[in-house]
Amino acid sequence: MALILTIDMVPSCHLATHDAHRITAPSSNLAEICQHVGIVEQNRQTDQMAHLDSDLHTPAITTELPGPRAQAIIERDETHSSPSLTRVYPLVVDHAKGAIVTDVDGNRFLDCNAGIGVTAAGHGHPKVSAAIHDQVDACVHYCSSDFYHPIYADVVKRLAATVAPTMGESRIFLANSGTEAVEGAIKLARHHTGRPNIIGFFGSFHGRSLGSLSLTSSKATYRSKFGIVTPGAYHAPYAGQADLTGADYIEQVLFRHMTEPDEVAAIFVEPVLGEGGYVVPPTGWLKGLRDLCDRHGILLVFDEVQSGIGRTGKMWAFEHDHAIDGVAPDIITSAKGLASGMPLAAIIARADIMEWAPGKHGSTYGGNPVACAAALATLDLVESELADNAAARGAQLIEGLTELAKTQPMIENVRGRGLMVGFDVTDHDTAYALEQACFERGVLLLTCGKRGIRMAPPLVITAEQCDFALSVIADACASVS
Ligand SMILES: Cc1ncc(COP(=O)(O)O)c(C=O)c1O
Repeated sequence: MALILTIDMVPSCHLATHDAHRITAPSSNLAEICQHVGIVEQNRQTDQMAHLDSDLHTPAITTELPGPRAQAIIERDETHSSPSLTRVYPLVVDHAKGAIVTDVDGNRFLDCNAGIGVTAAGHGHPKVSAAIHDQVDACVHYCSSDFYHPIYADVVKRLAATVAPTMGESRIFLANSGTEAVEGAIKLARHHTGRPNIIGFFGSFHGRSLGSLSLTSSKATYRSKFGIVTPGAYHAPYAGQADLTGADYIEQVLFRHMTEPDEVAAIFVEPVLGEGGYVVPPTGWLKGLRDLCDRHGILLVFDEVQSGIGRTGKMWAFEHDHAIDGVAPDIITSAKGLASGMPLAAIIARADIMEWAPGKHGSTYGGNPVACAAALATLDLVESELADNAAARGAQLIEGLTELAKTQPMIENVRGRGLMVGFDVTDHDTAYALEQACFERGVLLLTCGKRGIRMAPPLVITAEQCDFALSVIADACASVS
């Protein structure tokens, strides 16, 4: 049976008497954990209040995982749901607040996933929730493609302001998901250039509908057995994957052997590679793509579905590079963090590129007013405080992991930008084991790339919560090594 531990990790100013929380931990590592975070053993029945208070800042595992309620739901779900879903661990969410997710058995987890990079403002942020509630009362839906909503006009104006300093004048189309934004960007690039082909990068993820899937290449399983995806998509190595990468590879290999440049509509690239391994390309790598595009009349699309909306410490990840070498895209695709969990996506394009006629593109739900309300509140929070917090907390995690790597040799290649933090471990099986061990200890993170672990918490995560995540990773590493 798992040993129940109570850990005091929050500063005293945040710690009410019932704030004690619990994690399960292997008894062999008890001494080290106690030393690191200061533990007092306690009977779990004395802490009834803890899992009732959804505002707590602390994880607490009080049942075997999955717990009895979770187990019953998982069985029901798996009887009827599509087997294509990849449930990474048996987490059945009941409610969530800030960076804490509580499951149906009352176990609290520290969220270092944000629902796969989505809940930028954290779960249930009062300002986002209030904006959603107000808009639900005002109007839930009235097809934004065919009619006008004040809040749609507000969101596109607001997004245009975020890129005015880097891209100049823009126009924006609102959709529902990342893959839709990428689909629309493929159409727009073809429409504007009159060219058929597109180029992406190995390891990238752009979505699973047939157009975006033609660019996605993080895992072969996403494509196999689906026949011909959108023809005319070519791939090049991302930074760090080979000696010849990026613009050099495209120029010397693709343009020589596969497609002439004047047949290429756009190059799609994640400014920080996401599912493919949380790779930050070196300074100048994106600029190399920009220069190549400029030489050949090709559009440059930055897929910021995962890296955008403050996650890297700036509104858009490419702004880090723009500050050094002036690089900017022609089109941005955005989703995930944009509305902190409401389904909203955006294609942001230079105004002279988005000049298609009425009917060329649309969406029944795209730019839904409730999602737009959440987006406005999220953008306020990201601009006023959360991008800065992402920068600070990301630096803290990278420093802590770098320190940990000195004593835990399985941790290699600590990297990241803001709250896109990654590191490698020995091999894929170890990465998977570590992901599961962290889950059992109350921290939700994910694998990525060949043998990587990624951390993408909500941008509201606190310094104390980051310390907790680091202590759990240390313990989990010891348990799997
Ligand atoms: C960079 C990137 N682009 C596109 C997508 C697809 O987004 P969605 O799952 O909303 O279709 C993802 C999803 O993980 C992503 O990370």
